[in-house]
Amino acid sequence: MRKILLIGGTGFLGSAICRHLSRRLAKADFSMTLPTRRRERAKQLTVLPTVNVVEANVHDPAALARLMIGQDAVINLVGILRGDFQRAHAELPAKIAAAAKAAGVRRVLHVSALEAAADAPSAYLRSKAAGEAALRAANLDLTIFRPSVIFGDGDSFLTLFARLAKIAPFFPLACAAARFQPVWVEDVAASIVDALDRPESIGQTYELCGPRQYTLRELVSYAAKTAGTPRSVIGLPYAVAWWQALLMELIPNGPMSRDNLLSMRVPSVCTAGCTLPFGRVPTALEVVAPSYLRDGRWRAGNDRRRKKARR
Ligand SMILES: NC(=O)c1ccc[n+]([C@@H]2O[C@H](COP(=O)([O-])OP(=O)(O)OC[C@H]3O[C@@H](n4cnc5c(N)ncnc54)[C@H](OP(=O)(O)O)[C@@H]3O)[C@@H](O)[C@H]2O)c1
Repeated sequence: MRKILLIGGTGFLGSAICRHLSRRLAKADFSMTLPTRRRERAKQLTVLPTVNVVEANVHDPAALARLMIGQDAVINLVGILRGDFQRAHAELPAKIAAAAKAAGVRRVLHVSALEAAADAPSAYLRSKAAGEAALRAANLDLTIFRPSVIFGDGDSFLTLFARLAKIAPFFPLACAAARFQPVWVEDVAASIVDALDRPESIGQTYELCGPRQYTLRELVSYAAKTAGTPRSVIGLPYAVAWWQALLMELIPNGPMSRDNLLSMRVPSVCTAGCTLPFGRVPTALEVVAPSYLRDGRWRAGNDRRRKKARR
């Protein structure tokens, strides 16, 4: 029996990885353990026969040590857009590295973010870089993934714009010229699952991007139009955007923060054009997004879960 610990596995990307693993591996051959802060929020995953959702505080080294027992690999997906970045993105990977080492779990896969760097403009990207560094320093069989923004049914990106387009007559948009290279959640999940069985991925850092770059303005217009509610987008000057973000920080789980603005100063695009590892061909946004944006068919589930979970 092959055992995989999926930390942060109850969210958008984790659910896709669970589906891929469940499909790809023979049921009798493996099992996944997914720790969560609240088991009831991960009900949709408890129905998968190979998935064991357990309530645990992964920040507690003793709890982590228990979770590591008997595992063959650990995948860390914990990530937040607001809150204590240092704790979630830097301290937790360091604790995971220590627990994995102590338990003899050598294989570690970790999801970071494109353009994570110690000197990045945003605390989010700096904390992601610190997490990568902590894991690298532990000298494990490590693979790091750095996706651009991820789209797919249940995303909190295109779906948010489509949803806002239903209620707003136009979009006053911060950082309209910011660049992204969105990558499909299924392509990200498949790349991570591929890496589990590829020794050549050990020691590698993979950027994950879709086939095309877009400005934020293009993405917002596209989402609104595809949802059947085309809207004009009005780019905001940075100073106005800063005040808008400050106000949104006052709303619990508001859609924007000042740190998000700082993140968008760095283009979230792949350095070598479009890249996915292992010869995988990235799926175009236009092929997938209409299936969940058109006529408001998007899945509310992840958004609601994130709100409840305050992530
Ligand atoms: N989605 C994107 O566009 C995107 C782009 C680039 C990078 N990434 C990275 O990809 C990873 C997965 O993203 P996602 O979209 O799947 O995120 P998500 O849907 O928000 O899920 C986040 C997961 O992290 C856990 N979590 C959140 N805050 C936590 C905390 N303070 N302590 C412990 N666990 C916590 C949640 O577990 P609970 O069940 O306990 O709530 C959940 O399983 C993250 O590292 C993210 O930074 C995502």
